[in-house]
Amino acid sequence: MHQGTIKITKAATSKLSTTDFNNLPFGRLFTDHMLLAEYKDGAWCDPEIVPYAPLSFDPSLATLHYGQSIFEGIKAFRMKDGSAAIFRPYENLKRFNKSAHRMAMPDVPEFHFIEGMKQLLKLEDKWIPTAEDHAMYIRPFMFATDEVIGVAPSSKYYFMIILSPVGPYFSKPLNIYVEEQYVRAAPGGVGYAKTAGNYAASLYPAKLAKEKGFDQILWMDAFEHKYVQECGAMNVFFVLDGKVITPSLEAGTILDGITRKSIVDLARSLGKVVEEREISIDELVAGYKNGTLTEAFGAGTAVTVSKISGLQYKDTHISLDASKMPIADEIKQSMAALRDGSAPDSFGWMVKANA
Ligand code: PLP
Ligand code: COI
Repeated sequence: MHQGTIKITKAATSKLSTTDFNNLPFGRLFTDHMLLAEYKDGAWCDPEIVPYAPLSFDPSLATLHYGQSIFEGIKAFRMKDGSAAIFRPYENLKRFNKSAHRMAMPDVPEFHFIEGMKQLLKLEDKWIPTAEDHAMYIRPFMFATDEVIGVAPSSKYYFMIILSPVGPYFSKPLNIYVEEQYVRAAPGGVGYAKTAGNYAASLYPAKLAKEKGFDQILWMDAFEHKYVQECGAMNVFFVLDGKVITPSLEAGTILDGITRKSIVDLARSLGKVVEEREISIDELVAGYKNGTLTEAFGAGTAVTVSKISGLQYKDTHISLDASKMPIADEIKQSMAALRDGSAPDSFGWMVKANA
C-alpha cells in the first residue's frame, strides 16, 4: 500500500456545539474538516485534511461541462463500546475504482481512500451520532479539474472526502411508481457506475412521479420495460412465496449495492432462501393477486432497509402492509445489531475507524 502522509490543518473554530443532533436532515450538515488530494502529472499527491470550506475553480472546469464525476456513500457507526466502525469500506473502494475505470478516471489508492477516511473520522470522532438509526455518512468523490472545453478525459482530478452526521433518509414506508417511459440504464452504459450523470438523469422522471404522489421510481429494463431493476438510491428486494428475491446484476445496469450483497449473505445466514435473478413486474403483480407477494423493501447505505408499502404499475396498485413484514424487520434488526456491535461481526464487515 502507498505509505504517504496526511497533513492535517485544523479548523480555527468548530460547528459542533451549534449542531442539533436531534434534528439531522439527511446530507445538509457537514463536519469541520474535509480530505482533499490532487491528481496531476500522472500521479496522486498526498492527501491533506483541511478545514471544510468552499472550493474555487475556473468556469471551464471539465467536470461542470462533461460530468466526469463519481462518488461513494459509506456509513460509520458508533459502537456500543464507544468506539466507531465503518461498514465494509473496502467494498466501496473496489466499486469506486470500477466507476473510475468506466469514466476514464485514475484509480484512487487504498491509502487515500481508507486511511484518509479513518484519519478524517478520528479527527471528527465527536461528530459521530449515537442515536438509533443515526450514523456518520461518508462521501468520497472524485471529479475532473482540467480547465479546458474540449471533450477528453481530464488530466487532473480532485479526490475528496466529506462527512455528514445523518438520521434516517426516509421517515415512512415508500409508495413507488413503476416507470415505463423513462429508462435509467441500458447494457453497455454506465448503470453500474456511481457517476453523477445517472443521478442527474433520474431527477426529471422522479419529479414527475413525485407530482403524482409517489416517493421514488422503480426503474425497469431498457428494452421491454418488463424486468425490475432498482430505485433511485437503493436496490430492491421482495418476499415472494416465502423466498427473498432481488434482481441479478449481470446486465451491468444496476448498481452493485453493498447493502444488497450484505443482505443476501445475512438473509442466507438467517436461514432464508435468497434468489438473485430476473424479476418481471408481471410476476410481482401475479404474486400480489394470489397473495404470495408479502414484502417489498429497498436497501442502500443512505436508506438502510426501507419498506415499500405501495407499487403503482399501470392501473394496478400493489398495496402491502408495512407492519406485517417480518423478514424485512429481521434483516433490518440484524444489520443494525451488527453495525452497533450488539451482535458479533461474524462476517468481518466492520472496520475500526480509529485503528
Ligand atoms: N442503487 C443506487 C442507484 C444507489 O444510489 C445506491 C446507493 O448507494 C444503491 C443502489 C445502494 O448501494 P449501497 O448499498 O452500496 O449504498
Ligand atoms: C447512498 O446510499 O450512499 C447513496 O449514494 C444514495 C444517495 C444518497 C444518492
